[in-house]
Amino acid sequence: MQQAFVSKIGDIIVRLANIYDVDDIISLNLETLPEHYSNSFFIELLIDSPETFLVAEHDKTIIGYIMCRIEYGFSSLKKIKLSRKGHIVSFAVKKEYRNRTVGKTLVKQALIGMKSKKCSEAYLEVRVNNLAAINLYQSIDFTITTTLEKYYRDGQNALLMSKDINKTQEKL
Ligand SMILES: CC(C)(COP(=O)(O)OP(=O)(O)OC[C@H]1O[C@@H](n2cnc3c(N)ncnc32)[C@H](O)[C@@H]1OP(=O)(O)O)[C@@H](O)C(=O)NCCC(=O)NCCS
Repeated sequence: MQQAFVSKIGDIIVRLANIYDVDDIISLNLETLPEHYSNSFFIELLIDSPETFLVAEHDKTIIGYIMCRIEYGFSSLKKIKLSRKGHIVSFAVKKEYRNRTVGKTLVKQALIGMKSKKCSEAYLEVRVNNLAAINLYQSIDFTITTTLEKYYRDGQNALLMSKDINKTQEKL
C-alpha cells in the first residue's frame, strides 16, 4: 500500500502506520523489546490515534515503529492538574538501523502527532538501565519525573520521563 511519507532519512521513510503494517510491527516488537501486547491492542491504538503511530521503512521493510496512546489524567509535570497526555507505549528500531537518527525522528514525529491531538505533555516509562533510550529522550528535552519501583514483570525499576510539548516547537 503506497502512503505519503512525513519524513526521510536517506533511503529510510518515516510515515504513518496502517493496518497492513501491524504484523510486521508485532514481529519487530517481539524481536526488540521484552514487553509484548495482544494483536488487538496494536490495532486499537492504531484506530484510536493514527497520528501518533508511525513506522520507519527501508526497502519495503518495517525497520522501526512508535506507538502511542492519548490519555487524560493527572499531569506528570504539574501536580494536581489534569491534562491531555500522549503516552509512548512502545518504540523500537531494528538493530542494524540504529544510530542513524531513525529513533529520534520517530519520537519527534509522534510529538507532532500528539500536538495535533491537543496533548499538552508526553510521557513514557523506560527501564533504568536503557541508556540509549534515556539519552535519546533527554536529547529532546524529556526529564525524569519519578522512579517506578518494580514496574516491570522481572522486577526492574522504570523511570517515568515527561516533556511539556507546549514549550518546544518540534521540527524535523
Ligand atoms: C532506543 C532506540 C529506539 C534508539 O534508536 P536509534 O535509532 O538508534 O536512536 P537515534 O539514532 O535516533 O539516537 C538519538 C540519540 O539517542 C542517544 N542514543 C542512541 N543510541 C545510543 C546508545 N547506544 N548509547 C547512548 N546513547 C544513545 C543519543 O543521545 C543519540 O543522539 P546522538 O546521536 O546525537 O548522540 C533503539 O536503541 C532501540 O530500538 N532499542 C531497543 C528498544 C527500546 O529500548 N525502545 C525504547 C523503550 S523505552
